[in-house]
Amino acid sequence: MVKVSCTRLTMSQIRTKTHLGELDGTPKKRLFLSIISDYDLVTGLCELIDNAIDNRAVLGSSSPLKVVLELDSDRQVITISDNAGGVGEGDLENLVAPGATNNDPLDELIGVFGVGSKRAVVALASHSVIKTHKKGDKSYEITIDDDWLEREDWRIPYDAIPTIPAATTSILMSQLRTKITDDDITALKETLGEIYQRFTQDDKVRICVNGEQLEAVSFENWAYPPQYPPRVATATISIPNTGVVQVSIKCGLINDRDPVGDNYGVSFFCNDRLIAKHIKTREVGYSVSAEAGVPHPDASLCRAIVSLSGPARLMPWNSNKSQINFGDPMFLRIRDTIISLVSHYTKLSRRLKRDWPGQVFQYTQGEPVIVPNVDLSDGKSLALPPLPRVHKKKLELITEKNASKLERSPWLLGIVESLSAVQLLRRQRLRTRNRLALILLDSTLEIALKEFIVHNTHLFSKKDYSDAKLLTLFKNRSDVIIHVTRKITIPKKHLDFANYYYGLRCKLVHERATVDVTDNEIDAYEKSVEQILKLLFKLKF
Ligand SMILES: Nc1ncnc2c1ncn2[C@@H]1O[C@H](COP(=O)(O)OP(=O)(O)OP(=O)(O)O)[C@@H](O)[C@H]1O
Ligand SMILES: [Mg+2]
Repeated sequence: MVKVSCTRLTMSQIRTKTHLGELDGTPKKRLFLSIISDYDLVTGLCELIDNAIDNRAVLGSSSPLKVVLELDSDRQVITISDNAGGVGEGDLENLVAPGATNNDPLDELIGVFGVGSKRAVVALASHSVIKTHKKGDKSYEITIDDDWLEREDWRIPYDAIPTIPAATTSILMSQLRTKITDDDITALKETLGEIYQRFTQDDKVRICVNGEQLEAVSFENWAYPPQYPPRVATATISIPNTGVVQVSIKCGLINDRDPVGDNYGVSFFCNDRLIAKHIKTREVGYSVSAEAGVPHPDASLCRAIVSLSGPARLMPWNSNKSQINFGDPMFLRIRDTIISLVSHYTKLSRRLKRDWPGQVFQYTQGEPVIVPNVDLSDGKSLALPPLPRVHKKKLELITEKNASKLERSPWLLGIVESLSAVQLLRRQRLRTRNRLALILLDSTLEIALKEFIVHNTHLFSKKDYSDAKLLTLFKNRSDVIIHVTRKITIPKKHLDFANYYYGLRCKLVHERATVDVTDNEIDAYEKSVEQILKLLFKLKF
């Protein structure tokens, strides 16, 4: 046994605390370095647009707010100016001191942390000049640059300048930390159109980028199938001594599916500002074990838009408003309702998959069902309608359609069932299901080509295609294709697909590198294999 010896403290050692002085808790400028990597062009510029929107709201002005951005990819300079009201001399510190703000955290605003504008200008540029003019005050200029960042002194000079238009603020950022390209500018226009859609849609706010006024890019493109229009669950959450948050969770099937953009999932607006879009993670219901299952093209018609309005302090956003904090108590209060709705419409999307155009896309007009005051802790209060019954499984359908053919040519059963096995496999919650599906699909095609040769003796005589000859022939897929296409025409498109995926499968089997296979790739290959089987055996799918 190990003996543990411990030294006893004397009573005087325990009681005595000797005051030695005070430590300087003033932050060091180095802390700015840590945030440079947290910002990109969009998050940085949004902080500045948010401030203009907030300032206009605080002043309660009714005339439209105009925010003008000029991005010059040749000179690598950005200017952003607004007519939100400007900043007076007494408030200039809010533009430079981290944590300083006039915003009340209990107001329905975007800015709450008091850090956005300072972090954004430093993160985007090595040299920024802010000019501002509040009506009734002078015009002022402040420069924030790397010299200031390198000095330990936090004081920063400000100057009176010749008058600029009243009620305006402009920020000129040069020596950008990350080079901007014309592609960045194009992408920025689209993204800002989405982020500020709720502000720009009714012209309350106009945002111009390089002379172009941005259109609101709305996510509200719903389909209204007769029994399954979108539903809007609303609720009010009161937090004692802080305020009330209005919650609206709208979920339904969409009419603007974009398979490349993957524009389904859950989007979050906090005080009308888009914080995160098309989220498809476990926190909102997409996971191997959750009801909505893993994100998959079959599920891609389900969209949810979550809107929260209330005290900025209660919003579940991160500090630069680019993500939802899924551990935030406000998010946790609404999570189960989001997941119930997402699971419901995801299942609906899957069940109608056989005929999206007929069952979903044709219904472009309608009204959502409003479900007021839902009990956020209980999915039942959403009063969701029963889902349509699942259609016959694909296996049963294909076997039915080809019943007489299968009776005459029983060797085709294996091929038909392999295709159904691919379907079954794709619905399993296996992370490598696409790899398995690829192997199975490609083997099915290979077996089908062999059956075609073996069972069409009028085209491939037993003499010319002996067992030994077949063994040699099937060592090389392109030789097999050459022999088969001498007797039957298969469109080049399908042959190209078959070649490509055969190559992919060979990589999986023979090469060191692991190959990723996407849902879209399996979709495409499945269709081509079906087409080839139709041609070879007149099978119906
Ligand atoms: N363009 C502007 N027009 C008028 N006032 C502004 C402008 N930009 C910043 N301000 C003032 O500076 C303050 C500080 O802005 P900052 O972005 O740093 O913090 P915030 O908006 O309060 O909080 P957050 O860190 O969450 O953005 C604002 O509250 C506002 O009073
Ligand atoms: Mg701000």
